[in-house]
Amino acid sequence: MKNAIGKLSTTLKVLGLATSFSCLGLAQADEIAAKYNVDGSTFKCITKMTAVKHYFVDNLAGNLAGTVKVAEAGKGEFPEGSVLQLIPNEVMVKQQKGFSPATSDWEFFALDTDKGGYKIVSHGRQEVNNFLGLNCFDCHKAARAEFDLVCEQDHGCAPLPLTRVMFHAIQRVDPRCPAETLSAEDAAALKELGPIIEQIKNEAAANKK
Ligand code: HEC
Repeated sequence: MKNAIGKLSTTLKVLGLATSFSCLGLAQADEIAAKYNVDGSTFKCITKMTAVKHYFVDNLAGNLAGTVKVAEAGKGEFPEGSVLQLIPNEVMVKQQKGFSPATSDWEFFALDTDKGGYKIVSHGRQEVNNFLGLNCFDCHKAARAEFDLVCEQDHGCAPLPLTRVMFHAIQRVDPRCPAETLSAEDAAALKELGPIIEQIKNEAAANKK
């Protein structure tokens, strides 16, 4: 099917009918449209969501208890409507069954954050990249089946060079949240973070060459 789409897309381009396949509004045959329509206003200050372990959750279908249960158990399938966030500008939303068999119905979001709100930079299935140009699904697909694409530290994904202390600090500087006085530990972690982000960026750029 992918090949057929590729060919059709090329043909349309040659004919000058479309520059992008997606502007025709067609999805792959095995995918259906999202049930939970999300825009920038769906996302709130990260620390006002429900904390589970080191990350934050919500549920767009009113089933917060269901989401918290799976997150706390650390394995199992998240119910539809689940929203997971580790840092302010990356979100996973569990759409309804059939939305995206390849990504276990997860929709990935890359956001831009500022005081005014969250702007969705890109969203979708396998194709979404984060702010460093790295592909969400490429990393998250390495989580073993029982973890429903959730990586944590020991689910099979390649580890990130960021510590839990650093994630804690990043969550405390979400521009959407009321200003907090940073603890000395958070402030130190933020200082260490700059060079690490640079290093990840450079490695990603080198891998693309
Ligand atoms: C370079 C690999 C990589 C990329 C790219 C990546 N992630 Fe992750 N992500 C991870 C790892 C590893 C963790 C676990 C970190 C931890 O718990 O210490 C994680 C954690 C998360 C979590 C918390 C739940 C979990 O899986 O532990 C969410 C939500 C998340 N990422 C969403 C995204 C989204 C959305 C994107 C794209 C916009 C993305 N990630 C891109 C590797 C990646």
